[in-house]
Amino acid sequence: MARQGFCTVAQKPTGGNALPQWEVFKPPQQPGAAPGPRAPLHTVTFAHQGLTLQVAEDESLLDAAERAGIPLPFSCRSGICTSCMAKVQGPVEQDRAHALSLKELELGWTLLCVAFPRGPITVATARTRFRHGQRLGQD
Ligand code: FES
Repeated sequence: MARQGFCTVAQKPTGGNALPQWEVFKPPQQPGAAPGPRAPLHTVTFAHQGLTLQVAEDESLLDAAERAGIPLPFSCRSGICTSCMAKVQGPVEQDRAHALSLKELELGWTLLCVAFPRGPITVATARTRFRHGQRLGQD
């Protein structure tokens, strides 16, 4: 077994073949490091469900909702279809929300499948939008 930075390669030569039989890719672990999330956590409140969660910066808001058992609409999970569109108050990173216009972004619309918390936020889910008859992109 040879350690090469992020890659640990285990080899078991067979015959004259020196090709590795398997490779394991994982970040190096600090001895004694506590298990758990490595990304910073932020408080995320799903306002209409009355639930508050701790969400890591590398977990999408849609994934966090699913983890908490909140059923939300979605389809593509890649920022294309707008099925998961919802209003968010607070800092989020959503570099892949290409389906939203600048106006929609300014109004606080977010694609939950590609939105990641960068501070405490409150999510008003898409269900609210339909219950009050709001049109997509309008405040
Ligand atoms: S599920 Fe399609 S944009 Fe989020």
